[in-house]
Amino acid sequence: MDNVPRGPLSLFWPRQAQPSDAEAIKHLWWAEARRGRSDQSWWLSEIEETSSRWIVLEHEGQIRGAAFMFWHQPTKADRVLLVQPLLAADEDAEGSLLRWILNEASDLPPCRVQIWRGCGHDGLLPDFGFAHTRTYWRMDRPTLEGLEPVDLPSGYTLVSTDEGQPPVADWLTAYDRAFSEEWDYSPEPIDRFTRRLTRQGHHQRLNLAAIDDEGRVASLVLCRLAFHSGDARPQPVGSVDVVGTVPNARRKGLARALMIQGLCRLRSNDARSGSIRVDAENPSQSYRLYQELGFEKVFELCIFERHLA
Ligand SMILES: CC(C)(COP(=O)(O)OP(=O)(O)OC[C@H]1O[C@@H](n2cnc3c(N)ncnc32)[C@H](O)[C@@H]1OP(=O)(O)O)[C@@H](O)C(=O)NCCC(=O)NCCS
Repeated sequence: MDNVPRGPLSLFWPRQAQPSDAEAIKHLWWAEARRGRSDQSWWLSEIEETSSRWIVLEHEGQIRGAAFMFWHQPTKADRVLLVQPLLAADEDAEGSLLRWILNEASDLPPCRVQIWRGCGHDGLLPDFGFAHTRTYWRMDRPTLEGLEPVDLPSGYTLVSTDEGQPPVADWLTAYDRAFSEEWDYSPEPIDRFTRRLTRQGHHQRLNLAAIDDEGRVASLVLCRLAFHSGDARPQPVGSVDVVGTVPNARRKGLARALMIQGLCRLRSNDARSGSIRVDAENPSQSYRLYQELGFEKVFELCIFERHLA
């Protein structure tokens, strides 16, 4: 393949991770986070459950690199192999992982390989043909104090998934309508969306929606409790995973009211700080809403991509 620097492939051939590798992966992740290369927050608490989906690079009995990969399909014609995170103890390990990933991906139908990195920590990515395409921020609220629930705008009612109505399919329809124009959005099958609502830390009362007077979901905010050991934020963290309003219900204050409600419910579930990840180039400038609600940018993530024909 073009534009792949050569290296000692055979010495550093990755293997599938086992549950017993989870601690070593966490150590690599913390080390990367300390250097500012990685945002440790998102998946760290789930490494044990997902260990079979990681690959690790072992050399002389030590785990020196790890990567978590999954497919993402924004449109029928476009496929993305998302590598998030890619962790490496040093340049040799990083080069070996990148070489292996590109090698594997080159046998597949055309796709984009996407890697997320703390901005300013490009490492070997440009040498391997990756270019910076998008920037995301992690925004934190250091405390959940000082928030009072506000009423939804008139004509809308607050519901959460513990109430059983409306059905999950209606939540998914609203999610699709809210996000369909967003960068790299890929429609979610209902089983994946249902799993998302019941994932670890997603208490049913933390999945909130505003329904209009015809019972349709107009806006949704999905929150979850997350524990990140070794992280400076007051734990557990109240993570706001999804904020979306269908196009014809925007700028009425729905997302703001649902977010405040979600943060208050997180606080009642003992969350001590808040966190959200946002596309910094989002056309709705959703980061403005988060700023108004007391969130501050704490980490900038650069998304790198390489197209493979
Ligand atoms: C971002 C989004 C959730 C806002 O939903 P909403 O219900 O319209 O938000 P609100 O009416 O509560 O607006 C709250 C504040 O957000 C900001 N805001 C919302 N839409 C905005 C826009 N298009 N441009 C600039 N600021 C905007 C404003 O500060 C607004 O307050 P204001 O109306 O008093 O100026 C909605 O536009 C959306 O679903 N966008 C697509 C999906 C998305 O980007 N989600 C966020 C992912 S991180």
